[in-house]
This record gives sequence, structure tokens and C-alpha cells, in this order.
Amino acid sequence: MSYNLLKGKKGIIFGALDENSIAWKVAERAHEEGATFTLSNTQTALRFGQTNELAEKTGSEIIPADATNVDDLFNVFETSMKVLGGKVDFVLHSIGMSLNVRKKRVYNDLDYNYLMKTLDISAISFHKMLQVAYKLDAINEWGSVIALSYIAAQRTLYGYNDMADAKALLESIARSFGYIYGREKKVRVNTISQSPTKTTAGSGVKGFDGLMDFTERMSPLGNADALECANYCVVMFSDLTKKVTMQNLYHDGGFSSMGMSLRAMSMYNKSLEIAKEKGDMD
Ligand SMILES: NC(=O)c1ccc[n+]([C@@H]2O[C@H](COP(=O)([O-])OP(=O)(O)OC[C@H]3O[C@@H](n4cnc5c(N)ncnc54)[C@H](O)[C@@H]3O)[C@@H](O)[C@H]2O)c1
Repeated sequence: MSYNLLKGKKGIIFGALDENSIAWKVAERAHEEGATFTLSNTQTALRFGQTNELAEKTGSEIIPADATNVDDLFNVFETSMKVLGGKVDFVLHSIGMSLNVRKKRVYNDLDYNYLMKTLDISAISFHKMLQVAYKLDAINEWGSVIALSYIAAQRTLYGYNDMADAKALLESIARSFGYIYGREKKVRVNTISQSPTKTTAGSGVKGFDGLMDFTERMSPLGNADALECANYCVVMFSDLTKKVTMQNLYHDGGFSSMGMSLRAMSMYNKSLEIAKEKGDMD
């Protein structure tokens, strides 16, 4: 269902890899809501993913970029303004990757070159994006920039590894740049802290299926899926949220406010009984 919330708005969407990607759903929903936008991802992702299909479906141009490369980002913003016929109104940073997670290096045995890459790709790229946009004055007044985060920025969650540090930095950048961008150009900058979601990046996290089941049981409204996240992004890109900035916005069915729920406790008790019977209490 379309509400025309983004009619006439222009944007840039980073990070749509395949139909499971959160950015993919955002692109589909933004298109339905009347926006025009460009899509960006790495050359590798464009070769192996399905971004071309999305571009065709939404009538969007693809501009390749490694989001850690400032020259690439200048090109994305400059080309987008040319293609779309002016400054943009919204930007989505939907980018995350940890080589430590991929190579199964645990948090007390990190490879520091990988850690630097994790931080650069998953957090500093957001600063680079904002700085490039700011220097080019590429975002209209009351424009909206969103990056996707995760509650591991605030709480320790088994298996999330160095991505937790990246998300903490990402959220801090949203606050620090959000102040300057708001003060100088009336542009809002926020992060949305999303439930665990089955995507390529999400599924890389250790124990992901168990985590998704746990958060589903813990959240009074259940996990938020990718489409629901896209709907929230659309609202945040729309004019209905003009005074929301420098926030980390939880979109997680209530998980972030929970300590223990009835459903999670009953499952825990069941497993506890089985473990007791087996004498396996570790
Ligand atoms: N899936 C989850 O459980 C979950 C939960 C909370 C937040 N998030 C966040 O949502 C965002 C999107 O992830 P997703 O779950 O849709 O997975 P995804 O794998 O579909 O998207 C990640 C994207 O990052 C891109 N990327 C990686 N390195 C890049 C680089 N150097 N330059 C540009 N792009 C690069 C990938 O090509 C891919 O398109 C990430 O920031 C992720 O941390 C995901």
C-alpha cells in the first residue's frame, strides 16, 4: 500500500545486494512511495548480487562504489545529483562487514587488520558519506540520512564480535555529525537499530538461528522483519519526522526494553529440564 510519503523525493540507497537485503526492501518501498533514487554497492557485490534486477524494477541507475573510498563516494553523490536532476533528500547507509566474523576469529583473538577493515567498512564509511555529502552540499534542507545499527552497540550479545564496536562507532557518528549537519544545513541523521534479520550479513553471525528465536520470544511484538524496517526508513525519510535527529531508534518489537519474557523463560526452563536429565549443566 502506498501513501505517497516520498513523492518527488530523491535519494541514494547503499547496500542492496539481493532480495533479502534490508536496502533492497527500502528501495522497493521508496519506489512505491514515489521516490526516485540511485543504487550503490561494491563492484564485487554488483557482479555476484542481483542489484541489476532491482535497478530495472525501480528505474534506478547503479553507481559502483567501495564505501571506504572517498573518491568513489564523491562520484556517487556527484553522479546522483546529475542523474536525479538536483540535490538528494535521503540517503540510506545499509553496509556492514567483518572479516573477523567471516574468518571465525573470536573477540579475544581478533586480527587487527581485519578489525580496522570492520570499522572502516561498517562505521567510518558513514562518516565519509556524510562528509562528502556535506562538502558537496548534496542534501536538501530537511533531508534525512539513516544508517542501520544493532543493539550489540549497547549490550553484549554472544557472537556479534567486532561488529559491536563498529555499531557503537556508527551510532556515535550519527550523533556527532547529526549535530553539525542539523545546525548548518537542517539535515537529520539517525540510526535505526533493527532486530536480527535473515540476510547475507545477518546470517554470518555465530549462532544466528538461535539468536533470532531468542529475540522473537523476548520481544512482545516479535522480531521486526526487513520489510517492516523498510517501512520505518520510509517514514524517517518522509516529512512526517522532520525534527527527529541524532537518535538511535530501536525497531525491534520491544526487545531493547526487555529483561526476561514469559515465552523465553518457558523455553529456557524446558531446556534446563532436559539438561538436568542428561546431567549436562555446562
Ligand atoms: N541482518 C541483520 O540481522 C541486521 C540487524 C541489524 C542491523 N543490520 C545492518 O543492516 C545493514 C544491512 O545489512 P543486511 O542485513 O541487509 O545484509 P546484506 O548482506 O544484504 O547487506 C550488507 C551490504 O553491505 C555491502 N558492503 C560490504 N562492504 C562494502 C563496502 N566496502 N562498500 C560498500 N558496500 C559494502 C554489501 O555488498 C551488502 O550489500 C548492515 O549495516 C547490518 O549490520 C542487520
